[in-house]
Amino acid sequence: MSRFAEPQDPVFRAMNTSLGFDRRLWRQDLRGSRAHARMLSARGIIGEADLEAILRGFAQIEGELERGAFPFEPNDEDIHMAVERRLTELVGDPGARLHTARSRNDQVATDVALWVGEAAERAVTAIEALMTALIEVAEAHRDWPMPAYTHLQRAQPVYLAHHLLAYVWMLERDRARFRFAGEQALRRMPLGAGALAGVNFATDRTMTAAELGFGAPAPNSIDAVSNRDFVLDYLNAAATCATHLSRLGQEIVQWASEEFGFLTLPDAWSSGSSLMPQKKNPDCAELLRAKAPRIVGHLQALHGVIHALPLTYNKDLQEDKEHLFDAADTIEQALAAATGMIAGATFRRDRMAAAAADELLAATDLADELVKRGVPFRQCHAIVGGLVREAVDSGRTLSELSDDELRAQSEHLGPWIREVLEPLSLLERKQSQGGTASAQVAEQLDLARGLLA
Ligand code: ARG
Repeated sequence: MSRFAEPQDPVFRAMNTSLGFDRRLWRQDLRGSRAHARMLSARGIIGEADLEAILRGFAQIEGELERGAFPFEPNDEDIHMAVERRLTELVGDPGARLHTARSRNDQVATDVALWVGEAAERAVTAIEALMTALIEVAEAHRDWPMPAYTHLQRAQPVYLAHHLLAYVWMLERDRARFRFAGEQALRRMPLGAGALAGVNFATDRTMTAAELGFGAPAPNSIDAVSNRDFVLDYLNAAATCATHLSRLGQEIVQWASEEFGFLTLPDAWSSGSSLMPQKKNPDCAELLRAKAPRIVGHLQALHGVIHALPLTYNKDLQEDKEHLFDAADTIEQALAAATGMIAGATFRRDRMAAAAADELLAATDLADELVKRGVPFRQCHAIVGGLVREAVDSGRTLSELSDDELRAQSEHLGPWIREVLEPLSLLERKQSQGGTASAQVAEQLDLARGLLA
């Protein structure tokens, strides 16, 4: 007998089932159920023989799931029901006792929290691998000048190491966000909240929390089954990290173009064209760009699911998982791809140096030098602006202007400007903390290595 007089409509059943994606939770589900069963037995809610039978059944189920030999059935609505159904098939009544003092509402929240805790750790490891690769490549290109850009117009020269290290600091913040998400997931355990109000048994939630690695049992059963903030935290970390990788991807696409010609990608991270035999395309870097909005979309979607959702559990919450899983798969893949591409890229010193030798990149330095000679900055800006215009209009470089032409622009100008125009002197003048001068980059490299110690 059951509450229902007719079977589910097949369309509804297909819509309602989550087994297709939540089978990925099986390890967390077994962990949670083992802890729950041990606690029930320790409190005398089920017998010791029940516990033994349950654990024996779980050992077999674990093997079946591991081998891909678990007999799923069309009626299994989700992984939680499938495991319990199989357990009862295998061991009988003890299996049917497992769901005492528990609801799928606290069960699924607990499983997802355990999953997020592990996913956050994997992301931290992947981020550290990319940080390591960036630091190694920076180390190998400490004194390679390149132009840095604003508005994608050449602005000022920097060392390649300095530019690459910028990504290390973004990733350091991403790592902190993933750590936070993992901590939030494992801070308060939903298990034992029951459907929403607590349970009619003298359970020991501190015992299950300790076994599962949670900080403490969630103090409010209503919040416990309604909360998915830790999934939002994970998605937020993933979205920002992916957005950082999209910027790296875009720069690699630019740098790999013949117009820039700053780097050559390894063949293992490039693809060809079906038509044009000469092509070597930076598809991987392009995909890094395009994966970011996909993850941001998952974050936005889950905000939409939870928006205005009345307490407590609603089936809407089942929609947390596909967003979470796809975001985790995508960010882990993107981090690994970025690591491989950066580690394998060959930078082209000549091309970067030629672009960095553009004398117009010294305009700010000329203005600053005039400041040091007592001219107010706004006047310096105008004087150097006139100088640049004179050179550009006459198709010459700044150092090709004659002494007379310099003096015609301003009495403060003279032959000394040609020293300032030396590309390396521009770089080495940026002595301020965090600047691009070699000594500063060396210090920054030390700090960056310290992040991984
Ligand atoms: N598959 C469900 C989910 O992912 C499990 C919880 C079902 N609970 C319920 N009351 N129907 O959210």
